[in-house]
Amino acid sequence: MVKRKTKNLIDINDLSIKEIDDLIKVANDIITNKEKYSKKCDGKILATLFFESSTRTRLSFESAMLRLGGNVLGFSEASSSSTTKGESLADTVTVVSGYSDIIAMRHPKEGAPVVATRNCSVPIINAGDGGHNHPTQTLTDLFTISREKGRLDNLTIGLCGDLKFGRTVHSLITAMSRYKNIKFILISPNELKLPEYIKKDVLDKNNISYIETNDIEEYLKDLDILYMTRVQKERFFNEADYIRLKDYYILNEEKLKKAKKDLCILHPLPRVNEIAIEVDNDKRACYFKQARYGVYIRMALILKLLEVK
Ligand code: CP
Repeated sequence: MVKRKTKNLIDINDLSIKEIDDLIKVANDIITNKEKYSKKCDGKILATLFFESSTRTRLSFESAMLRLGGNVLGFSEASSSSTTKGESLADTVTVVSGYSDIIAMRHPKEGAPVVATRNCSVPIINAGDGGHNHPTQTLTDLFTISREKGRLDNLTIGLCGDLKFGRTVHSLITAMSRYKNIKFILISPNELKLPEYIKKDVLDKNNISYIETNDIEEYLKDLDILYMTRVQKERFFNEADYIRLKDYYILNEEKLKKAKKDLCILHPLPRVNEIAIEVDNDKRACYFKQARYGVYIRMALILKLLEVK
């Protein structure tokens, strides 16, 4: 096992609130002073090891490193790596840590990034592990909320869709539970409710107020944030169940008549049918802006983990 002091980002709780605030400050500064950051990672290499498909996370990490003046290498699917020949994750990471200065890794198995850190001499970033966690999506979500609402406390947040398998939901609840006066409205079909361990270990443990419902319209008028999610097809064992549940919620302009004028609608994307296209023109729709912000907060994270001043 390689022993080192370098920080990884495996779970959003690896960062303190102060560290998250600092990342948000840097990301805001990057947006207004892009040129100042354009050579910060000159000579550095980011490896993106994606054992599961991605558009936003992989490409925003690559864009982030390129915008910092660094370089990128990697693979976008397990089938184009030597995993197909039987190579272990531990061996892959040991080898790639000799080719790069920092690794962003996505894997279908929950806990895989923790295993990877044991063999790695460079910082590892969890870019999503199965239905477990997605901490850099959460940083993107927090950054977007702070820019849109001007605060991360005193918010009523509706989370809608697949709360069982949606790793972005799990990480976001974990992060937001550390801020003051947060209330959650958990909107899902019975089969896709938030796992009990998150209710017990995060919500109950921190005395966070929450309501579970399967009706998206009931609490819409109370929400400051509505975080829509798609039903996670790739985590279902039974296709018939997926087909039955996939269109359970479709947010449209008619439903949004009941919502606040300053509601912030987020979605980690990709979207399937859960937000009607007509909503894209609503000024409350922030999900494409959210995807763009992902680049800046990932730039700030790369700088932090590489200890670039
Ligand atoms: N939000 C997100 O993780 O998107 P991708 O799966 O496209 O990376």
